[in-house]
This record gives sequence, structure tokens and C-alpha cells, in this order.
Amino acid sequence: MTDSALRALPAWKALAGHYREIKELRLAQLFADDAKRGERFAAEAAGIYLDYSKNRVTDETMRLLLALAEQSGLRQRIEAMFRGDKINVSEKRAVLHVALRAPKGASILHDGQNVVPEVHAVLDRMADFADRVRSGAWKGHTGKAIRNVVNIGIGGSDLGPVMAYEALRHYSRRDMNFRFVSNVDGTDFAEAVIGFDPAETLFIVSSKTFTTLETMTNAHTARDWLLAGLGGAAAATARHFVAVSTNGQEVAKFGIDTANMFGFWDWVGGRYSMDSAIGLSTMIAVGPENFRGMLAGFHEMDEHFRSAPFEHNLPVLMGLLGLWYNDFFGAQTVAVLPYEQYLKRFPAYLQQLTMESNGKHVTWDGEAIDYDTGPIYWGEPGTNGQHSFYQMIHQGTRLIPCDFIAFARTLNPLGRHHDMLLANVFAQSEALAFGKTAEQVKAEGTPDWLVPHRLFEGNRPSNTLMLDVLTPLALGKLVALYEHIVFTQGAIWRIDSFDQWGVELGKALAQKIIPELESAEEPKLAHDSSTNLLIRRYRKLKG
Ligand code: F6P
Repeated sequence: MTDSALRALPAWKALAGHYREIKELRLAQLFADDAKRGERFAAEAAGIYLDYSKNRVTDETMRLLLALAEQSGLRQRIEAMFRGDKINVSEKRAVLHVALRAPKGASILHDGQNVVPEVHAVLDRMADFADRVRSGAWKGHTGKAIRNVVNIGIGGSDLGPVMAYEALRHYSRRDMNFRFVSNVDGTDFAEAVIGFDPAETLFIVSSKTFTTLETMTNAHTARDWLLAGLGGAAAATARHFVAVSTNGQEVAKFGIDTANMFGFWDWVGGRYSMDSAIGLSTMIAVGPENFRGMLAGFHEMDEHFRSAPFEHNLPVLMGLLGLWYNDFFGAQTVAVLPYEQYLKRFPAYLQQLTMESNGKHVTWDGEAIDYDTGPIYWGEPGTNGQHSFYQMIHQGTRLIPCDFIAFARTLNPLGRHHDMLLANVFAQSEALAFGKTAEQVKAEGTPDWLVPHRLFEGNRPSNTLMLDVLTPLALGKLVALYEHIVFTQGAIWRIDSFDQWGVELGKALAQKIIPELESAEEPKLAHDSSTNLLIRRYRKLKG
């Protein structure tokens, strides 16, 4: 079998050989040999400090990884994205989320047309609407101001808004309630409106396509709930529903006045859309100025990604390190561990961003892939995770590279809490890297039989990201950092990071099964014996 284009690259071949040479190298040794390692294996940009010294890499590893980035054409690919080339080849679309945060006056072309003015026109409309809702000028059907905002959406139309709302809660209107409905499980909707007065509730139906089963089902249920509470029909809907979508026709069909629709474009992927009109709930929560602050953060990271030399480029460095463990050490996952309670939904957000983007088995040319692509992303905030799954990161049999995220200042200074929090994040990366030898364990008076249980082999890699304080600006930088890590890896793996065909089959089968569950007559089933039986059992049990 001939090598794939990636495996055939000289840098890839060199990395494979280099891995064999250094795979047993110990971080303890690397630090002992180089007193300046902590300083040398670090980079800083856009107010984010990245310490990557506790990775199993040498100068040579970094040199080869950077060569891989060059030989893979990453630089050209970045330019192709910014130029508006249709790099989402399987959907024949440009990938221009960077235009969503370009400042007024910038020019980013799509099919020869500068899209930045359109982006700002939508932002201005959003700001006007958000201000009216926040000030109470926007009235509900009975003349009451809006106090409750419910975003209905799923995937990229939910995970970004939820994550951003939680992350920026400190900056949000505390006299308003924000809730998010995504699941087609009716419980999600039922719980989201408990205690809400329909007269004071605004629904934002967020769906790029406006055809997604979950979102449309929830939107119809929301309308029934509203009208049951308020009476009226079209008039009440108009005051309590707005839409965020690329599909004006479907929005109008639902009964939402397209004057109350905030658009975006097919060159924005769902999982790259939290900074588009999909962020309307975020903007209402934190206000237009803070939203623009977040966009400025995104933009700062975009500029860094586009212009910084790869050896100082945070997304490129982190993308390469991730690839090093994924493809050479066989690591299957990445743990993202924010030591910031407000980022509690950040790992869940990253799961769609990373895995829907890079969980692919063919190249952009449709060729089967003979190396591993996207790893599994997961995580929880520290210190909670320490009392749960960190056991396995420290002493399990799998290699789990970690990204620690820490902020120098807290938004809630309470006694010694923040020093304790930060002491823990530093302690964890130190413990993972250097462990504790049998000799050290014995020297503490541990009986011999207990020594193996108490030793830590160490040599477990991590990155530490340190920022000043969690502001809208910082959040924008952090999200853009991970977007571009995904981009870097997708470019090297030669995959289309912007399609998601893998979600289609299950969706189509569900559409076929729904009538089989609902029909009054016993349906004729033609699935496999397992699926047939499950359907029959469900029909019997539900009565
Ligand atoms: O899960 C597939 C997906 O298409 C995601 O990519 C997207 O974010 C989500 O569904 C929601 O889609 P829409 O915004 O069109 O409702």
C-alpha cells in the first residue's frame, strides 16, 4: 500500500522516526537538562500565555512539527480561508466565520463581494433590538416588558449561546432570566418555562436551516404554550418570537415576521456561529458593548493566527502538540480543564467544535485516511474534576494530554479562594509531569506493599493557558484559539473540518421511525431484528 499524502511528507516520516527515539524521554530529565525549559517552551500573544514546556517534546520535536505545518500547506490554507475560497469542499462553501468579527471598514470577500458591511448591519440591528428588550421598550403582547429570554436551538445554535451566557454571567442582566432549550425530550422545554409568565417571555428560535427536527418541534411547543397563556395568535407570536436563521422562507412559514429575523450566511458553519446573530441571547444578556468586546477578542486571535510566525503562533503550536499525541503516541482524548467556574460549559462547547469538525474518516479528496484524526475532547472545571476523573489521568493506563486554563484574577474575590484554586492548577500540572518515584514514596515511610499504589509515574503532558481575567474580550480570544487549533489540525490531516455528513444517517432513520412509533395500526417493520424488536416493545409499553 502506498503512503497517503500526509504520511509521504518528509516531516511526517521524520517525526515517526523521532518518536521512536524520544518516546521514553522523561519530562523530569528534560527539565533537569535545561534550567530554562519553562521559559523557552512558552509563547504569549493576545494576552494569553501558553506554557507548553510540560509536553513530551524537545527542540527537535518542535522543529519537525513546525516543518510538518509548513509542508502540509497550512499557511496557504489559512490564506485560502481568509480569501473566501470554498475550502468546505463537500458543501461547496466558503468558511468565513472570521468575517463575523472583522472590524467595520475591513474587507473580506465572498464571491467578489465584501461581506463586512452586511455583518455590521446585522450586528447593528441586533444591538438595537437587544437595547429595546433590555430597556423594556420592546413590549410583549399585553404591554409588559420582557423579563425572560428562552433560546431554542440545538448544536451550534445552542452550545455556543449557553456556553457564552454561562461564561459571561458576571456581565449579564441579573434581573432577567435566560434559559436554553435544545433537546427534543419534552422535559427540556417543560423545565425551561417553569415559573415564567408568557406575557414576559421572549423566544429566540435559532436555527441556521430552520428545519431541524428538535428546534422546530420545540418552537411549535413554545408557540402553543405562549398562545395557551396569552390568547391571540399572529399578534402574540409577533411580540414573543424572533428568529435567527439563514432561511427567511421557513421563518415566514412558521409565522415569525421576517422583520424580526436576524440573518447570517451559509459561509458560517453552525459550530462557528456563536459570534453571529446566533449570539442574540448573549447580546441581550450582556449588552451590545460587551458583545462587541467579545468580537474584538475573536478578531485579535484571528489576526494573530493569520500573521504570527508558526513558532510563536498559539493555535498552531497547540494544534501541533495535539497532533503529536494523537498520531504518534496514540492518545485518544484531550482533557480541557478550566480553573474558572464560569467556563463550566466550555468543554461541552468544544466537543461540537472539535469533534464535529475533525471527526472524519476521509480526506477532502474523499480518500480513506490511514492515520488518526480528531481526538475526543472532554473535561470539567477544576477543582471539581480533581475529585472525580483525575485519578485516571494521574495513574491510569492511558495517556491523556490536558489543557489547563487559568485566570490570574477572579471576578469573585472571596478570601483565599483564588490562591487555593490557582495553587491547585499549578500542582496538577506539576504532579502530572513529574510524578512521585518509589523512592520518594518509601522515604515517606510507606510500607513496601503500598508503594506501587502510591507512586505516580509522571511524564503526563499538559499545556497551561493563563489569562488575566475572564472578560468578554478574553472569552472571544479563547474560543478563537480553539477554532484555529481545529483548523490547524484539519489542514494537516487534509480533512474538510466544515461539513458534518456524519449526523445525517441517524436523522434520516429517525424520520422513518417516527411514524412507526405513532401509527395506530401495527406497522410493517423492515429494520434488523434488534431495531424491530425495540420498536415493538416500545409500542407495547407506551400503551
Ligand atoms: O448536528 C448537526 C447540525 O447540523 C449542527 O452542525 C448544527 O449546529 C445543528 O445541527 C443545528 O442546526 P441548525 O442551526 O440548522 O438548526
